[in-house]
Amino acid sequence: KQRPVIRITCKMIPALGNTSVRMRDPQRVEETLRCMQKAGLNTLQVISDFDMTLTRFARNGKRCPTSHNILEISKMISSECKEKLKDLLDKYYPIEIDSSKTIEEKLPLMVEWWTRAHALIMQQKIRKDQLTLAVQESDAMLREGYQEFFDCLNQHSVPLLIFSAGLGDVLEEVVRQAGVFHPNVKVISNFMDFDETGVMTSFKGELIHIYNKREGALLNTGHFEELRSRPNVLLLGDSLGDLTMADGVQEVEKVLKIGFLNDKVDERLPSYLNSYDIVLLKDETMEVPNAILDFLV
Ligand code: C5P
Ligand code: MG
Repeated sequence: KQRPVIRITCKMIPALGNTSVRMRDPQRVEETLRCMQKAGLNTLQVISDFDMTLTRFARNGKRCPTSHNILEISKMISSECKEKLKDLLDKYYPIEIDSSKTIEEKLPLMVEWWTRAHALIMQQKIRKDQLTLAVQESDAMLREGYQEFFDCLNQHSVPLLIFSAGLGDVLEEVVRQAGVFHPNVKVISNFMDFDETGVMTSFKGELIHIYNKREGALLNTGHFEELRSRPNVLLLGDSLGDLTMADGVQEVEKVLKIGFLNDKVDERLPSYLNSYDIVLLKDETMEVPNAILDFLV
């Protein structure tokens, strides 16, 4: 019975027929998109995760770095500290993507990961002016089609909130070097605090980790207040923790959630299908989000 519905949606947006696309309820996706299109782009805001959502997960079979990894592999970090950070990654990343554990089980372990990694980073006397080079020398890559995505949103004055549990100073540098840090972009993330000589002393404000984006959103009421006239949301993420990024949106009407499923695809697909409206399997491009924006324009 679902076949004709899928075809209708694909007719609206042919990219939704791509082999990487899975949808629990294509009809709902279609209805949401039609409502959003009718309401117009001046009622839309986009909220996106950064690592492994705006950036690529892998290229030619090799993992691409997260904003944390960019710093961790840079010259700014001592080899002893690199080893410790690598041990943390090897211990906690498998837990992050373990579909046999609930979020409640993972939460304290993820807080432990972030807290330990940030404590190590804070000891490294990182200089603000070295971040540019660290990003230049890294393999950081935004997903194919990123330019079209960022430019389209800017051209139509649609606000883009990048909401990341990664490192704000690093990710802003990635976006800046890619030439797409347009005025419509705002970042909520973990930002470093530097002393008057430009050396990092600590992190600013509350820690944002993979499972407290809801709390992070609710701390930023000012941003969402300004966007009160934009009740429709396109949400992009790659973790189940990203689903709460729109919880701060005021008087929300329609939310379309697009989830990139990059790793352990078979095991995690059922839970992703349950919570994301559109799931993209090992899709390293922005083709589907761009096609949706094209439809909404
Ligand atoms: O931008 P985003 O919210 O996706 O950033 C979170 C990601 O950063 C997680 O998916 C996690 O794998 C990664 N991370 C990391 N090193 C850390 C902590 C988190 O690579 N120390
Ligand atoms: Mg992510």
